[in-house]
Amino acid sequence: MQDKYKSSTVYQIYIKSFCDSNGDGIGDINGIRSKLPYIKSLGVKYIWITPFFCSPMADNGYDVSDYRNVNPMFGTMEDCEKMIAEADALGIGFMFDMVFNHTSDEHEWFKKALAGDPEYMDYYIFRENPPEWTSVFGGSAWKIVPSLGKSYLHLFDPKQPDLNWDNPKVREELKDVVRFWKGKGVKGFRFDVLNLISKPANLESLPAGAGASFCKDGPHIHEYIRELVEDTGIGDMITVGEMSSTTLEQCVQYSNPSGSELSMCFNFHHLKVDYKDGGKWTLMPPDLHELRRIFSEWQEGMSNAGSWQALFWCNHDQPRIVSRFGDEGQYWKESAKMLATFIHFMRGTPYIYQGEEIGMTNAHFTSIEQYKDVESLNYYGIMRDNGVSEAEALKVLGSKSRDNGRTPMQWTSGHNAGFTEGESWIGIPENYKSINAEAEDNDSGSILNYYRELVRLRKDYPIIAEGDVRFIDTGNDKVLAYERRLGGQRLAVLCNFCADDEKVTGVDIKGKVLIGNYSGTHKMMKPYEALVILEG
Ligand code: GLC
Ligand code: CA
Repeated sequence: MQDKYKSSTVYQIYIKSFCDSNGDGIGDINGIRSKLPYIKSLGVKYIWITPFFCSPMADNGYDVSDYRNVNPMFGTMEDCEKMIAEADALGIGFMFDMVFNHTSDEHEWFKKALAGDPEYMDYYIFRENPPEWTSVFGGSAWKIVPSLGKSYLHLFDPKQPDLNWDNPKVREELKDVVRFWKGKGVKGFRFDVLNLISKPANLESLPAGAGASFCKDGPHIHEYIRELVEDTGIGDMITVGEMSSTTLEQCVQYSNPSGSELSMCFNFHHLKVDYKDGGKWTLMPPDLHELRRIFSEWQEGMSNAGSWQALFWCNHDQPRIVSRFGDEGQYWKESAKMLATFIHFMRGTPYIYQGEEIGMTNAHFTSIEQYKDVESLNYYGIMRDNGVSEAEALKVLGSKSRDNGRTPMQWTSGHNAGFTEGESWIGIPENYKSINAEAEDNDSGSILNYYRELVRLRKDYPIIAEGDVRFIDTGNDKVLAYERRLGGQRLAVLCNFCADDEKVTGVDIKGKVLIGNYSGTHKMMKPYEALVILEG
């Protein structure tokens, strides 16, 4: 079962910013269809596409008002069916994004709940005396409905009321949604913030704090996931759950080799190593020591348990990795390739987020008017209310905002980076003139062609898909290294995370260079050098 995805790579599309086919400035399904040959050229086997279902778009589609219909801003059901069939013909399967922790407040279930229908109120979580919880996007996690004399829980935006998974009817409704898309030929699923669905008992007696932290990995979580997987028959498909602040022990179960839950999980510990005192809206260079600790713990721990991991640096909720842990300047190309190498040789399934494969950078917005994301706008307000200067708040957003990863895909050096004929819904970084897919396609030394090679190597070398993994000590905090072993073979991966020549000690690097971002081997690791050596 796992063979399906062990040697595969997944490409993630954020539809709104991928490719606009009709000049309204918004990426759409027909835009995706036109780029399928490009995606095929990467060698990936699956595409995870972010939600394009009916939605008022308060959180760019993660607020679904109708799970079975296509948002007209993205196209029609017919377009969607064609997209699935055309990808299928190219040997690429779609993974659709199921947002099941919450609906939109404009979903018909919630409208009925608000009207006081007790059956539908029980689809959500209403309380008279709720605990003082804050939401992920800032502010209270409860919104009062005066006509009902109760508040409803929203771990995210008030327009995203949380569903009550303890109600079996809710679970049945959601299973039907999965069956519906499975029936349309979808090959897998991504489940949004899945480990938040099982809420704690006795909510009203719980203390104040961050709502999500009380709801993660809740009492019935494994039971609900197993039920969902079994009753919809998706146990042999590729499935990935987004797991917020979870533990290794939990993820071992979520992705256990028996296949009763999911194929794999996204977890985010490695993307918090630049959070000062755990806070996202701060500025701090990455703590490489911590980065190494987290990867070695998770890679080795999941491997020992026989569980499987999703590998990623980027998605639509993260700033661009080359801007974050790499270098946008002199070593742009080297650092982008090094970061890719570090992830792609690990044990798990790599995910490439649109634009990552060409080294796209953060947005470099200079005014708050350029930001669109609800979380960024809320936290800008919160920072300003707390006395942070405008310049400082903009600097924090410039480094942490989700919009850094949501600027349009840079296809060409032409008008609007080839993304739209019209006016883009969000700004496009100036650097599209040099950083774009067309230029890189024709350049054998480009980041794009390096990614293509990484995807190919995973398919060609079983050691990358199947080997054991162990982190190795390089005697240097800035050079992270691990080895993979299978049969008599050994693969050593060394990555220099800084802009200086660095010395490594005690690492055995005999064998042939499988891939690297400089040619040959050196006494010292060059700036942002990545080196992969195959022995045996
Ligand atoms: C996930 C999504 C994110 C969304 C949130 C609430 O984290 O990836 O974009 O805002 O869930 O649905
Ligand atoms: Ca469009």
